[in-house]
Amino acid sequence: MEKIKVELGRDSYDIEIERGLFSRLGAKIRHLSNADKAAVITDTTVDGLYGKALEKELQAVGFEVRRLVFPAGEEHKNLATYGDMLRSCADFGMTRKDLVISLGGGVPGDLGGFVAASFLRGVQFIQVPTTILSQIDSSVGGKVAVDLPEGKNLVGAFYQPAGVFIDPDLLSTLPARFIHDGLAEVIKCASFGNADLFQALERYRDEKEVLEHIPEIIGACIRIKVKVVEEDVRDTGARMVLNFGHTIGHAVERYYHYEKYTHGEGVAIGMVRITRRTEKLGLTKPGTAARIEALLKRYGIPTDDPISTADVIAGIAMDKKKRGNRITLIVVPEIGKSLLQPAGFDELSKYVEREI
Ligand SMILES: NC(=O)c1ccc[n+]([C@@H]2O[C@H](COP(=O)([O-])OP(=O)(O)OC[C@H]3O[C@@H](n4cnc5c(N)ncnc54)[C@H](O)[C@@H]3O)[C@@H](O)[C@H]2O)c1
Ligand SMILES: [Zn+2]
Repeated sequence: MEKIKVELGRDSYDIEIERGLFSRLGAKIRHLSNADKAAVITDTTVDGLYGKALEKELQAVGFEVRRLVFPAGEEHKNLATYGDMLRSCADFGMTRKDLVISLGGGVPGDLGGFVAASFLRGVQFIQVPTTILSQIDSSVGGKVAVDLPEGKNLVGAFYQPAGVFIDPDLLSTLPARFIHDGLAEVIKCASFGNADLFQALERYRDEKEVLEHIPEIIGACIRIKVKVVEEDVRDTGARMVLNFGHTIGHAVERYYHYEKYTHGEGVAIGMVRITRRTEKLGLTKPGTAARIEALLKRYGIPTDDPISTADVIAGIAMDKKKRGNRITLIVVPEIGKSLLQPAGFDELSKYVEREI
């Protein structure tokens, strides 16, 4: 079992990672909470796989349980679902000493977290993430949110959980598309934050071997994110390194109306595109882009798209309101390292051009 402590003063908590942990969750959660009632916020798919089992475990340790289930998918991470969940908590008669548990990927995690942060001005919150992406990324760091029609994650809060419980065995039911999506973010973490992890990923021959080692991989990625979050809880600076590949990636995802590529695929294309350029600009050690690209390709993740420089810049400009006139690009000078490179809009093209 691996336990990673997130040191945030009064808001500190542990992240536990262990195969088979799911079957021991009742006792683990009871240890953290003296609530009478536990609301489990999850989506239809995850509820069908794991909802009933979690309910039974929680009942066995004395919680009164209600499962609050919404249809799976990012399109339901919205104000309407958020409102339904809040009303369900009220209808369940929850008080401030009761508990919200998110069970699922980043969507139930972000939505459930925002319900926990705001219902009765905040009730205790526990995360049980079930996708690679949520296990290494969204369940760590305390950002919770829902989307607006105007944009993703526009309403939310910083709200730390009391605990995060990760059972890598739950990934056995995750469809290949989401496995690959998560692996793209794993490769991102290794690229900017951990050369040993990157080399280990290069040694594994295929997906099967990666999944055999997934508990250590998840642990390594979480440690990278925890370190960055501890330095920058409210996401005003250092956390930006987590956005390696994301500036171009978001523009690519948006250009194709979020239909052609998953988030991880957009990030993969972004990481390779910017790193090919920063090699040419002398900011990155030669051969780095090729290593990132080779690793992504092994898992069937796309690494290139013909989208033009102008279209990438137009996509980045749509986020301009959030960012202001200058943006900070994340550059990987060599595997395992990162560099924040401020750039004005007028000089963006040299970083986002497509090298062929
Ligand atoms: N809070 C943060 O810091 C942060 C960071 C990164 C991403 N996010 C958010 O995370 C979300 C994406 O997360 P995601 O990819 O986990 O999405 P998701 O929650 O929609 O899960 C993806 C799909 O997998 C299914 N699923 C989940 N676990 C499963 C399992 N074990 N077996 C079978 N199917 C399973 C879900 O039902 C869903 O259809 C986005 O909304 C994004 O904004 C948040
Ligand atoms: Zn991402």
